[in-house]
Amino acid sequence: MNKKKQTVVKIVRGVADEEPYEEEFEVPYESGASILDALTWIRSHKDSSVAFRYSCVNANACKECMIVVDGKVTYACTARLNENGVTVGPLKNKRLIRDLVTDIVPPKERLFSIDQT
Ligand code: FES
Repeated sequence: MNKKKQTVVKIVRGVADEEPYEEEFEVPYESGASILDALTWIRSHKDSSVAFRYSCVNANACKECMIVVDGKVTYACTARLNENGVTVGPLKNKRLIRDLVTDIVPPKERLFSIDQT
């Protein structure tokens, strides 16, 4: 029987103001698969609580999937998985929301709350 190749995705997880931790997930490896493919697989098959953001799914149009992959800022939908495993984490220069989700809204585009007291 032909055993499918596996690789490891290590995710730096956590929430703002708490010490981050790393969690490893073994995922199926296919040549050409993206980091986003691996993250969606992890969320579907291993841990539905892993937080990451994406919208356009591999079209590289929404720019919402930006994360750090092996120390480099890149898009999860265009970065490729590799056989030796990868480490992914949140953007370091943005406010962390949870796991790989950071506050990427430019300050000028933020809505301000209206105090209705
Ligand atoms: S998912 Fe839209 S740019 Fe990556």
